[in-house]
Amino acid sequence: MAKPIYILNGPNLNLLGKRQPEIYGRETLADVQAKAEDLAKDLNLTVRFHQSNWEGQIIDWIHQARDEGAGIIINPGAFTHTSVAILDALNAFDGPVLEVHISNVHKRESFRHHSYVSLRADGVMAGFGTEGYLLALRRMRTLVAE
Ligand code: DQA
Repeated sequence: MAKPIYILNGPNLNLLGKRQPEIYGRETLADVQAKAEDLAKDLNLTVRFHQSNWEGQIIDWIHQARDEGAGIIINPGAFTHTSVAILDALNAFDGPVLEVHISNVHKRESFRHHSYVSLRADGVMAGFGTEGYLLALRRMRTLVAE
């Protein structure tokens, strides 16, 4: 069986739908997971969908993906702008990596304009709302077939 795509979510994304809905929308992370799993079926992919508020847990999932994952879609939340450790873990992963941000980080505070993860990501979606996860999954379908 083909290896799954890891969809990893960082801190505060467990509050999606409740947290600053004017920025992040009203859909919950469970809604996003359900939509991603539905689309994955259509695309003949499987996904492992995770969220953690802990940097080390996200790093452990990236390490797991080294053996068990075909690609990684990651919304690292605020760790995007701070975490060299997540960048290092992604640099130790050989498959495609796509970075997703629900909001358009470039339209926001200047500290959100820099992403460590973008130094590794093969593509970045920002400002497409939660639809960005689904667009990234479609792109991942192409990348894992290459
Ligand atoms: C985010 C943008 C980050 O700057 C922020 O810290 C988040 C969410 C997004 O999805 O738009 O937690 O990654």
